[in-house]
Amino acid sequence: MIEVTNLSYSYPLQRQSTIHEISFSINKGEIFGFLGPSGAGKSTTQKILIGLLKGYQGSVKVLDEEVRQLNEDYYERIGVAFEFPHFYSKFTAYENLTHFRRLYSGPTVDPLELLETVGLSAARDTKLSAFSKGMKMRLNFCRALLNQPDVLFLDEPTSGLDPVNAKMMKQQILALKEAGKTIVLTTHNMALAESICDRVAFMVEGKISLIDSPKQLKIDQGKKTVQIEYQLANGNLGLKTFSLTGLKTNEEFLNLLEKDQLVTIHTQEATLEDIFIDVTGRSLV
Ligand SMILES: Nc1ncnc2c1ncn2[C@@H]1O[C@H](COP(=O)(O)OP(=O)(O)OP(=O)(O)O)[C@@H](O)[C@H]1O
Ligand SMILES: [Mg+2]
Repeated sequence: MIEVTNLSYSYPLQRQSTIHEISFSINKGEIFGFLGPSGAGKSTTQKILIGLLKGYQGSVKVLDEEVRQLNEDYYERIGVAFEFPHFYSKFTAYENLTHFRRLYSGPTVDPLELLETVGLSAARDTKLSAFSKGMKMRLNFCRALLNQPDVLFLDEPTSGLDPVNAKMMKQQILALKEAGKTIVLTTHNMALAESICDRVAFMVEGKISLIDSPKQLKIDQGKKTVQIEYQLANGNLGLKTFSLTGLKTNEEFLNLLEKDQLVTIHTQEATLEDIFIDVTGRSLV
């Protein structure tokens, strides 16, 4: 669906390039996440993919076509939710979506249906000037879906959302994947990336240092130990760590199980954030 080879990009008048020779491909029906600290080049990469920055070096193919050669028709086929959305502040939510809907020549979705999916039905007649950041982000998501695109680009889809709405957004993105859409997102949110991305790319200073599935990364980099808290005779808690290898014959572990003294038991998996720091030497903020 997306094939990027040796992509480099410098903003006009900038001496140094922002993106350095990155290559990746994204399959149809995949949720692919760009992770990296602020300034890594995530949004720049997305802007190149959506045809906003055309003076790039290398090759960027989306839907089998080189992006620098695409014309306005491209926007009939993709959906984009920008990091900093702009709407008409004097128009209501419904009027905004209706306006953007008219820009498409192909089939579109009823804005009311979209507002419903993100919990904004009650705000349909509210002017955008009275919208909170989280409400704007949800409306931004609706706008990206108006033209029923096969490929969606979501820049920081959970930014500014409270935990309930972030969960809703996650479910909506998964529902789109179920419907066969390809989704490219950027995020600082490791928990989101871990729970919904099929693969993630770690990006730092305009380079990709690793691409893999969160699950595989955790298997490869996890500690493979289990930590146990258990009750001591004096009322305090004891803490022990055992290797997962040979656990079923580990006498000390079995002894604790037998005496029914366990209070908590946790496998020690590395989080995606730990792995990011290990691989890139950089934290995510
Ligand atoms: N229009 C622009 N002109 C010049 N430099 C820019 C422009 N937009 C971004 N940059 C620079 O390019 C680099 C990458 O920025 P980008 O917005 O792609 O980062 P990001 O990974 O999306 O960061 P964040 O997580 O903060 O959104 C930064 O150093 C930024 O200052
Ligand atoms: Mg960004």
